[in-house]
Amino acid sequence: MIIDKTMRLYPTVWQLMRHTIQDDVINDYHIPAGYTVFWSNYMLHRHPAIWEDGDGAL
Ligand code: HEM
Repeated sequence: MIIDKTMRLYPTVWQLMRHTIQDDVINDYHIPAGYTVFWSNYMLHRHPAIWEDGDGAL
């Protein structure tokens, strides 16, 4: 549990990216082909809609 929570709050890979090869829609956001999409695992792992203790300190 300690390792899981440490990896959640302090992920080694805190951000990832993908290049889009075709148009897409995710949660009403239109994402054109040829774009680069970044997202943050660090923020996702602290999102209050997902985690009860979202930003909880260890
Ligand atoms: C602390 C150690 C490591 C870190 C932080 C790390 C991090 C990453 C990251 C961020 C990616 C890109 C993931 C993505 O964009 O989806 C990746 C891909 C990859 N890593 Fe590592 N990596 C580590 C160790 C290793 C080791 C030891 C190996 C092989 C023995 C390895 C093999 C690969 C391969 C083959 C991919 C490409 C996977 C794919 O595109 O399907 N990684 N790694």
